Amino acid sequence: MTIDKSEKAIFIVTLLTICLFVFSLLYSKSKYKADLPECVPYNKTYAEPRINKLDDKTYQVFVVAQMWQFQPSEINIPAGSDVDFYLTSQDVVHGFNISEKNVNMMAVYGNINKTSVRFDKPGTYNIVCHEYCGIGHQNMQAKVIVGPSQSLP
Ligand code: CUA
Repeated sequence: MTIDKSEKAIFIVTLLTICLFVFSLLYSKSKYKADLPECVPYNKTYAEPRINKLDDKTYQVFVVAQMWQFQPSEINIPAGSDVDFYLTSQDVVHGFNISEKNVNMMAVYGNINKTSVRFDKPGTYNIVCHEYCGIGHQNMQAKVIVGPSQSLP
């Protein structure tokens, strides 16, 4: 049994495409210093919106999306902070996009998605819902406000 020439060519192209895809994932991971989103086993403590400060530069943010808001809606942190976002939804599927940080996650009821982001530059980073979720969809947003970095004592 032999493989047809064109079949072989398609096979190679497919392999190269997969390699390119994996390479681009790894590249963006290092370039944007962002974690690849991951799933975390569900536990209902995640459905309680809050910000945990682990130390001066490390935060955990538990974000709850629901029609049509994110909670917490304002996250204040100093520059140079590493933030772990844990995201879930109280109702339908929502999006969670921080374009400047290349963060693109889905908020799904009963699920937790997690990603880690480093905020080096002071400024305001907008979080928007980018998954249509009903009439209030376009108003669904939050922000991360990155202040000047705290000097160590
Ligand atoms: Cu939530 Cu669109």
